[in-house]
Formats: sequence, C-alpha cells, structure tokens
Amino acid sequence: MTIGKIIDGKLFAAGLRAQVAEGVAAFADAAGRKPGLAVVLVGEDPASAVYVRSKGKMTVEAGMESFEFKRPDSIGQEDLLDLIEELNEDDRVDGILVQLPLPAHINEAAVIAAIDPAKDVDGFHIANAGKLAVGEKALVPCTPLGCLMLLKDELGDLSGLEAVVIGRSNIVGKPMAQLLLQESCTVTVAHSRTKDLASVVHRADIVVAAVGRPEMVKGEWIKPGATVIDVGINRVPALEEGKTRLVGDVATAEAISHVRAITPVPGGVGPMTIAVLLRNTLVAACARRG
Ligand code: GUN
Repeated sequence: MTIGKIIDGKLFAAGLRAQVAEGVAAFADAAGRKPGLAVVLVGEDPASAVYVRSKGKMTVEAGMESFEFKRPDSIGQEDLLDLIEELNEDDRVDGILVQLPLPAHINEAAVIAAIDPAKDVDGFHIANAGKLAVGEKALVPCTPLGCLMLLKDELGDLSGLEAVVIGRSNIVGKPMAQLLLQESCTVTVAHSRTKDLASVVHRADIVVAAVGRPEMVKGEWIKPGATVIDVGINRVPALEEGKTRLVGDVATAEAISHVRAITPVPGGVGPMTIAVLLRNTLVAACARRG
C-alpha cells in the first residue's frame, strides 16, 4: 500500500508570511508608513475571538499595523455601517475585515457592500467577486487562494486537470471554482443536492472539500493519485469523555492510501487563510499607493 504525502500547510504559510514581511518592510521604506489591517469583531463568539486574536498577532509579526474594533452583539446596523465608513476614510487602513458570521439582526450583504472594494481584503465585495469571475485583477478570498497556492506548489501546472469542488459558498466554493477555471482545470462544483457524489469525486484529479461535514468524503471515493485539499474544520467528540477533536470534511485515514497528496486538519488549509490575508493587505496597500 502506498501512502500519500501530507501537505504541510503550516510550513508553507510560515514561508508566505516571511515573504509578506519582506514586502511590508519595502513598502514601509518607500511609503513612510506601515500597511494597516482593521479587523471588526461583533459579539462574543469564542471561535471568532480566537481567530481575531491570532490575526492581530500575525499582522504585527509581519510588520503591519493592526487595528481591532470589538463591538457588542447589540450593535445596530447603522452604527456598524458608520464604523466601516470611518475605516474606508482612514488612510492608515489598507485592509478591512469584518469577521463573519454577524448577529442575525445585521444584514451581512449590506455590511460587505459598504466596504471600499480597494480595502476588501476578504474579497467578498461584489466588485471583487465580479472581477474574479471575468478574470480581472481582484482581491481574492483568502481561503481559496491559499488552497490554490498549495495545489500549484504540489502539482505545478494545473492545466487540463479535472477538479471537483464540493461546496458552493461565496467564501470558498464559488471563488475556488473560479480560480481553478482560470488555471484551465475542468471544474465541477458539487454540493448537498449533487446526485452520486462518490462517482463525481472519483473522476477528479483535484478534490477541494468545503462542505463543513465531518469526514463526509470517503477514502474509496478518491481516484488513485488525486490531490485532496480539505477545507473543513469540524469539532467532533473525542474518544476521551468530554473532549473534542478537529476533523476535516475528508476521512483522511482512509484517503491517505489513495491520494498523491492531502492537506491535514489541523495544519493544512487553516494556517494559509491568515497568511493570504496578510498578503492581500500588502497587495491592497501597494495598489492604494499606486
Ligand atoms: N469567518 C470564517 N472565515 C472567515 C473569513 O475568511 N473572513 C471573514 N471575514 N470571516 C470569516
């Protein structure tokens, strides 16, 4: 039995952050200021708070300015839109990230639409999604761009390969499909209504799983030699009473003997997201400076 390679996303992300830090130093020399990233966190969701802390720390480590805005769950939509308007106008701020999900009484689409597309380092604004779709230069969502970087590092040229993206979210599935199409892959987007997912997955040279269902993709579904990117981060009960552990959307232990390479959970795609966010912030800073 051959065993596939485990893609070390943590190592790749560290390399990318180091590269970004060099670019940041060069920007600061030329511009006389650091690039700045503003992160807005609404409410007390513990997972979001962990991400935001980690983002702030890595932003500073990369040599950038980090601005954090914590607002209570009870914030009204108008007040949140006012904050975004302030950040749009603030010249020290090159990137604005509003941590999702937002509380139910806030219209997420309206908040995203309020962000200056030039500062939309998440790439969620319709202007950036549209540019990506037509192949214009855009700020691209961090997680799918990180997945693409890992794929190109592993496979080189992706042209002509069969890619199956499982999941059709605006944050991962749809932009991932656009990126793979740009690389001249033959792209299928599968989702919860897809019939016979096993056979759809089985034709893929590249599988990107982003559905948020623990170990849903079974090892035997994977075509021998395929490369698998597992975007899922699912918390499930561990064997030890009262403990939990993280698993992806792919049954990794089964898949490992089928794949050429696979990203682990944790330590695969996860670390890439923040590294790409820092990269996007530097890109936005350079573009704003002209
Ligand atoms: N929540 C989970 N992932 C993300 C992300 O990539 N960006 C934002 N803004 N919120 C998230």
